[in-house]
Parts: sequence; structure tokens; C-alpha cells
Amino acid sequence: MTDSAQPGTATRGQDGRIRVAVLFGGRSSEHAVSCVTAAGVLRAIDRDRYDVVPIGISRSGQWVQMDDARVQAFSLDGGALPAIEDAHATVVTAPGAGSHELLVTAPGEPPRSLGAVDVVFPLLHGPFGEDGTIQGMLELLGVPYVGAGVLASAVGMDKDFMKVVFEHAGLPVGPYESITARQWTADRAACLDRVGRLGLPVFVKPARAGSSMGITRVTDPAALEAAIETAREHDPKVVVEAGIVGREIECAVLDRPSPERPMASLPGEIVVADGQHTFYDFEAKYVDVAAAALSCPADLPAEATARIRQLAVETFEAVAGEGLSRVDFFYTPEGDLIINEINTMPGFTPISMYPQMWAATGIDYPELIDRLLELALSRSTGLR
Ligand SMILES: Nc1ncnc2c1ncn2[C@@H]1O[C@H](COP(=O)(O)OP(=O)(O)O)[C@@H](O)[C@H]1O
Ligand SMILES: [Mg+2]
Repeated sequence: MTDSAQPGTATRGQDGRIRVAVLFGGRSSEHAVSCVTAAGVLRAIDRDRYDVVPIGISRSGQWVQMDDARVQAFSLDGGALPAIEDAHATVVTAPGAGSHELLVTAPGEPPRSLGAVDVVFPLLHGPFGEDGTIQGMLELLGVPYVGAGVLASAVGMDKDFMKVVFEHAGLPVGPYESITARQWTADRAACLDRVGRLGLPVFVKPARAGSSMGITRVTDPAALEAAIETAREHDPKVVVEAGIVGREIECAVLDRPSPERPMASLPGEIVVADGQHTFYDFEAKYVDVAAAALSCPADLPAEATARIRQLAVETFEAVAGEGLSRVDFFYTPEGDLIINEINTMPGFTPISMYPQMWAATGIDYPELIDRLLELALSRSTGLR
């Protein structure tokens, strides 16, 4: 093996099946959701084609070999949230070895080989999963992996740079200001002055978070500073956006082998019930499940649907996306579309928006998994 895997050279396992390391859990706040995603993927993946090696990542970052049946039983219903515990033995990789071999090491014991894997499926969200860091590690190993590469992952994680890229590509984004740690420390009044020009309400967000963590909708100028401090607890860089009035529409993008362009699904809509939640906040996403309904396909004029699908593909291409992404929009009463964000590793449980939108478009969950793995196997690591 060279240090960069060539497309189509997957070393099929001894029984002819493709060996897939599925990575889940992880160090972000979406640890439990990622575990449930792994359950969904392990239940649906075609075992005649794929030999699965489940690897959980604990909250502290330890890689742990997991029992397949135990992972398949993970769910968010009742009882404790699923979590990967630290363990005695750690799964490790050997950068530069070129063999894609996984080893299990434990103090005082000789390393035990888990064999080589052909491809990695990172089912991770947020920092250390969706932000380019794990992708960088897999690049160093030279092992193909599902989804966006280092740059697209990093850009998709950063709501400030994401907008810079979108604007450069001529894609519609709303008015915003970003506040770096240095700017906030050096001249808080100047920052507040800039933000003040956005009017009210504004949404104050950590630049690199997810699951609506640390986001505040601000309607009173007196509450702005506290909201910025709240966002700064998650990320020293903060993005403040003008509040957009509009329906929340999402669209799933699935890559195709070059030179074909990626495909966009039928759009879906997030309908947040009036009352407790003034926006699609953390509670509405994960806790108060009755608070938000996913409706797919979204009830939209045909022309809007077509424009959303086209913009979703252009957004994916603007960040050099690969594999999959979900692009989220606001659809205003005037009929304008504004891009809120791209998620390079969107929610991927069987009932999440991304798989639901593809199901409505004619690609079911097992086929989605199969296509994503095929895409990963058909591309090289390294420059491409
Ligand atoms: N500029 C905005 N105008 C109106 N609502 C917003 C705006 N930004 C965020 N929201 C609301 O907050 C939610 C979470 O914001 P988002 O930027 O998508 O963060 P996350 O990456 O955590 O999903 C959105 O789904 C939407 O309900
Ligand atoms: Mg979002």
C-alpha cells in the first residue's frame, strides 16, 4: 500500500465482504444521538456485503471495541441515554503503516489485531466528528471514509466561514456579524455597535457548535451582552444573525461519482409548534419531541421546490462537499430563500430528516448506507 489509498482497491475481507469500521459516540454533545444512529445503521446495513466492526468513542475520546448486538439495542426511549464508557482496552490505529489495521491494546497485554478495514463510516456529529479533525486522522491513515473531507467538514462546522464561502459563491445568506475573541476583548462597545445595526430580533450563536447549543434569540438590546457571553461558553467566536421570518425547509444532498453532479432530495419542513419554543432549540430537537414535526415532502409551490433543490446542490458544491449533506433554508413569506446552514454529517437515525427526505424521494435507508459506502470506496484519500 502507498500512503494514499487508490480508488477501487478495497481489499475485500477474507470472506469477500467489505470491512467497515463504524465510528460513533464521540466527544461532542451529540454523543447519545450518535449512538442511536449507530444502532440504526447496524440494523439496516447489508450483512451479506459488509462485515461491520463497531467502534464506540467515549466522551473522553477513548476508542472502544463494541459488541454489535449491544449497539443495535441503543435507543433514546426510556431509561438512561446510551453512552460509550471508557474501557480497559483501547482500539488504536497505526498511522503510516498503510495496512488500515486496527489493534486492541490494554496495559500489560500484547496488542491484539482486529484486522484491516476497507472503509470507515464516521457517524459522528459536532466537534471532533463533523469538523474535519477525525477526517484529518483518516487522511493520515490513508483509509477511505464516508462523507465530507477535511476542508468541507471544517467549513461546514464554522457558521462564520460557511457564510464567507456562501457569499463568495453568490448564494443567499442573511445579514450577520461575527465577533472573534480578540475583537470582543479589545473593544466590546464596537462589537455591540456592529451587532446593533442588525436590528432585532437577532440570533446569537457559537460559531462552531450544533444541536442549537448556546443559541439565544434576543429581542431586547439589554440582553445582547449576556447572550454573547452564553455563546462564548461554547466557542470564543460568536456569530450574530438578523432574525429571519420564514418557514424552515431542509434538503438532503447525496453525492454521485464524478463527473455526475450530486443529487438533491425532495425538501422537508420543520414545523415548530407554537408555545414553549420560539425557535427550533435544543429542547424542541431532542427533549420535547412533540414540539417539532418533520413534514416531508414540504408543501411548497413547485417552483420553490425546484429552486431549493438547485440551491442545495450549489451549496454542497460551494463547500466542496462529498458524500452527504443537509442544507437548511428559511423560506420567507415573500418567497425568498435564505440559506441557514449546511450540515456535513446530518442527523442519520432512520427517523432523522436526512433519511426521511431520501425515503420520500425513493431511496430507502439500507440503500442510502450502501451508496455512501460505495462512494467512499470509489474515491481516494489525499488530494482529489
Ligand atoms: N437567523 C435566524 N433567523 C431565524 N431563526 C433562526 C436563525 N438562526 C437560527 N434560527 C433558529 O435556530 C435554530 C438553530 O440554529 P442553527 O443555526 O440551525 O444552529 P444548529 O447548528 O445548532 O442547528 C434554527 O433551526 C432556527 O429555528
Ligand atoms: Mg441547524
